[in-house]
Amino acid sequence: MQGLTELLFRRVYEECFPGAIERAVTPFLSLTHNLHNLLQSDGQTSTLRQYLRDVLPEANKGSIPITPQILGKEPDEFIALANKLYDMGYGEVNWNIGCPMRNITGKHRGSGILPYPDEVRGVLDAVVPRIKPLLSVKMRIGLRQKEEIKALVPVINDYPLASVTIHPRLGRQQYTGVPDVETFGQVLPMINHPVIYNGDITTPEDAWRIKERFPGVADVMVGRGILYRPTLPLELTWGEGRVKDGFKTGEPMSDSERLRLTKHFIARLMTKIRNNAKSDESALRKTKEYWCMLWKGLPISEADARKVLREQELTAVDNLIYYFIQ
Ligand SMILES: Cc1cc2nc3c(=O)[nH]c(=O)nc-3n(C[C@H](O)[C@H](O)[C@H](O)COP(=O)(O)O)c2cc1C
Repeated sequence: MQGLTELLFRRVYEECFPGAIERAVTPFLSLTHNLHNLLQSDGQTSTLRQYLRDVLPEANKGSIPITPQILGKEPDEFIALANKLYDMGYGEVNWNIGCPMRNITGKHRGSGILPYPDEVRGVLDAVVPRIKPLLSVKMRIGLRQKEEIKALVPVINDYPLASVTIHPRLGRQQYTGVPDVETFGQVLPMINHPVIYNGDITTPEDAWRIKERFPGVADVMVGRGILYRPTLPLELTWGEGRVKDGFKTGEPMSDSERLRLTKHFIARLMTKIRNNAKSDESALRKTKEYWCMLWKGLPISEADARKVLREQELTAVDNLIYYFIQ
């Protein structure tokens, strides 16, 4: 997730919950018109390194395994970037055709391409035979109407995709309303690739409900839930015969243990943000971005959580957060 599950977050996460996340799809790398030239240049320019900073293999060593994500529909740039990522060691790249942001969808990027199956086919036709890594897709069920996905299924079935992740909301819904699991259930058997469910998984029960209702689902992907409940991936690995950090398999995590781990994680993340921020202003902004979601893992009221967002000084924000997680 842009601005959230970036490298710094993933590093802190891995430090606190080693091995809990099987794989993360990175925040998207957006194709830009000069990308082709940039990648053709000497390959090590600082602009290029800056562009690729989140996925540089040396920075991601020892961290959560990642699949870089690409946003855009320009085949030449797509191919150049995908092949660059392959040369950097990534065997799979993910195509984002789900992003709902209006400045993106207006250009038929992200979920903006979903009403146009021929455009999707055009991109896949041009890209798939010419990229070295495997391709997976992350999509919504449509931009404006849920019928859009039904016209897209035959298109995506025509290409050898590693997986298809479906967030069953419409682009125009942004993040409002509830995921349309009915429509998800209708298209699931029509897709001949492994299908990953994504959307509003915030508790282990949410994930188990999906797996129970749709045994054909290959996996579930957690989005905002990682911030609402940072222990969630660890909790989800239980019952699959794994022992983590001394916890026995199959036993639900106690509330007190979940709270202890959550507080520790928040403290580590806050510290890392401060240590890495270029200025107090950027630390303040970043802290608030995370806090909007992280507070939900703590036994505090929304009114109390909002106090943090109203503060304008980093020290005041720190003091409040540390009060809540002490
Ligand atoms: C702030 C924010 C940034 C996001 N950035 C990305 C992104 O870069 N790539 C992506 O595939 N999805 C992105 N998403 C969408 C999530 O990955 C996920 O599909 C969506 O939030 C639904 O899942 P959830 O209900 O578990 O959060 C973003 C979501 C939010 C809220």
